Parts: sequence; C-alpha cells; structure tokens
Amino acid sequence: MNRDAAIFVAGERGLVGSGIVRALRRRGFSKVISAPRAALDLRDQPAVERFFAERQPEYVFIAAAKVGGILANDTYPADFIRDNLLIQNNVIDASYRHGVRKLCFLGSSCVYPRLAPQPLHEDSLLSGPLEPTNQWYAVAKIAGLKMCEAYSRQYGFNAISVMPTNLYGPGDNFDLKTSHVLPALIRKFHEAKQARSGAVTIWGSGTPRREFLHVDDLADALLFLMERYDSADIINVGWGEDVTIAELAALVRDVVGFEGGIELDRSKPDGTPRKLMDVSKMTALGWKPKVALADGIRSTYRWFLANVASAPA
Ligand SMILES: NC(=O)c1ccc[n+]([C@@H]2O[C@H](COP(=O)([O-])OP(=O)(O)OC[C@H]3O[C@@H](n4cnc5c(N)ncnc54)[C@H](OP(=O)(O)O)[C@@H]3O)[C@@H](O)[C@H]2O)c1
Repeated sequence: MNRDAAIFVAGERGLVGSGIVRALRRRGFSKVISAPRAALDLRDQPAVERFFAERQPEYVFIAAAKVGGILANDTYPADFIRDNLLIQNNVIDASYRHGVRKLCFLGSSCVYPRLAPQPLHEDSLLSGPLEPTNQWYAVAKIAGLKMCEAYSRQYGFNAISVMPTNLYGPGDNFDLKTSHVLPALIRKFHEAKQARSGAVTIWGSGTPRREFLHVDDLADALLFLMERYDSADIINVGWGEDVTIAELAALVRDVVGFEGGIELDRSKPDGTPRKLMDVSKMTALGWKPKVALADGIRSTYRWFLANVASAPA
C-alpha cells in the first residue's frame, strides 16, 4: 500500500477500526477516508454505492459489524444475521465493482465448530456444528469469508479474511452488561478498589483457558497481511498462548492495585474449557505479536481511567 493510497476503514470508531486507523496514521498513511456510522449506514446499499462512487477507496478494511455477547446474540438473532450480512455484502460487492485493489474482511474464532480440536486450526472451518448461541453471527461471518473467496475465484478480486482471537485494548467496551471478560474484570477491580471492598467475585471455577491479543498487535498484523498475503484462504491471528481466567483476574488485580481477594462463584457457568487459535500459519509468514498481556492490561487500564472512569455518569 502506498503511503498516499486512499484507505477506507469501515467501523472506524470500534475497538478494531480505531486500532487500524491509529496504526495507519502512525505509519504515515495520509488518506484515511472517514465515514462514521452517522454519515454512512453500511446496511444501506444505495448509500454505500454512492460513497464508493464518490470517494473511490483503493484499500478497504471491514471492521464494521453488529457485535455482542451471548445474551445479545440469543435475544436478537434476526438483527445479528441481517445486519452483518447486509454490511459485508454491500461493502465487499461495492469494493469489487469500484476497483478496490485489496480488501480485508474480519471474522472471528466463533466461525469454527463448537467442538473443533484445540488449538483452532484454519482447516476446522465447516467441519462440524457451530456453537448454537451465536450461530447467527457465525453464519453471517462464514458467508462473508466465503463471499471473499468466491469473488477472488470468479473475478480475481484480492480479498483476504482474517480470524482474530479475543481482543482488548483502548476503545474497548466496559459496560458490564455487554462487555467481554477482560474489560469487565478491569471495571470490577477498579470499582472494588474505589469502594474499598474486601473481594471481587468472578464467575465459574476460574479454570477455563482463554487467549487475548492487544488490538494494536491485531492492527499491526492486518497491515502486515495487506502488504504480504494474497490468498482467499482464511488466516488466524492470535497471541499463541492462553491463560486461565483465574490467572487473568490476578493480573488485572495487580495492574489495578486492588488489595482485596478474589472469590470464585462456582454456581455460574464456565463456558467452553479452552479457546486458543493455532497461529502457525501466521508465524510461518514471519509475524509475531509484541504486546505482552500485563503491559497491554496496564495501557488499557490507563485508557479506562482517562476515558471511562472519569466520564460523567
Ligand atoms: N472484539 C473482539 O474481541 C473481536 C474478536 C475477534 C473478531 N472481532 C471482529 O472485529 C470486527 C470489529 O469488532 P469490534 O470489537 O471492533 O466491534 P465494535 O467495537 O462494536 O465496532 C464495530 C463498529 O462497527 C460499526 N457499525 C456497526 N453497524 C454499522 C452500520 N450499520 N453502519 C456503519 N457502521 C456500523 C460500529 O459503529 P457504532 O460505534 O456507531 O456502533 C462500530 O464502530 C468484527 O467483525 C468482529 O467480529 C472482534
């Protein structure tokens, strides 16, 4: 990608989109096309068509999606499947028809079957039934990566599909009703410290293992792949190692400086015992993540203090 290429990051205000925009700016890409949701609803096909005709992006990252946890997926299955299909269909098709040089589509580990062997390898795609609770989202994502593959095969369109592991970092969602485990723990320990509580309770046995990647590492990987990977075959991006939820909680407690204890509520569900990406394909290309979990949690906590904890209620 030339430093003066016109680049459209769909979902520029989200966790991933804002990380990609930061990485592009840091590296001197000067023409990042901005189109926040208020200006362009990506579900609106005629509006997407007008946008591409007027702005003529040369490279596109699709980091816009309707994203949510198990509860949201289970409650609004129609919204999850429709919005994600509309967003990705509109953006992938307009990108191809308006001569975009290369497109990057984002999936996630939920595209893999519920019982796929761990660590999750790219070859496990479509080898078994999906996790039922977020199947609507997963089916839409699978349609997106298959659409990239089909456009590549039929039209020679250069579209890559990247499957990131669990992400965290500045710009994350800290709302306890909808957030992922890592930002939820940051908020819980912070509030317990403020309230001088004796202990923080975490759900389940603390033994499930999860993998976490800082969003700046993901953005770095995406730029690396935009410059060096030209295949419609999906590729995983992760840290390559996992931690138990109890280890994660202890790390967050230390970073936040909470001096109380950690209690386990074993009556709450654990979820799947392990979720780790096989990153051998990415490693073989010569890419490695840099932000160690403790450092990433420290900078994310600083961002939380400056942007969330200090915001008026
Ligand atoms: N976060 C993770 O742990 C994770 C892990 C693996 C993969 N991913 C993938 O990464 C991608 C981005 O996720 P994220 O965590 O960055 O989500 P996010 O923080 O919720 O960001 C999503 C972005 O999409 C925008 N958007 C949603 N609907 C739109 C519409 N109709 N028109 C225009 N913009 C719309 C949102 O705009 P508003 O801000 O206005 O709502 C937001 O900026 C997703 O494809 C997700 O599957 C994320």
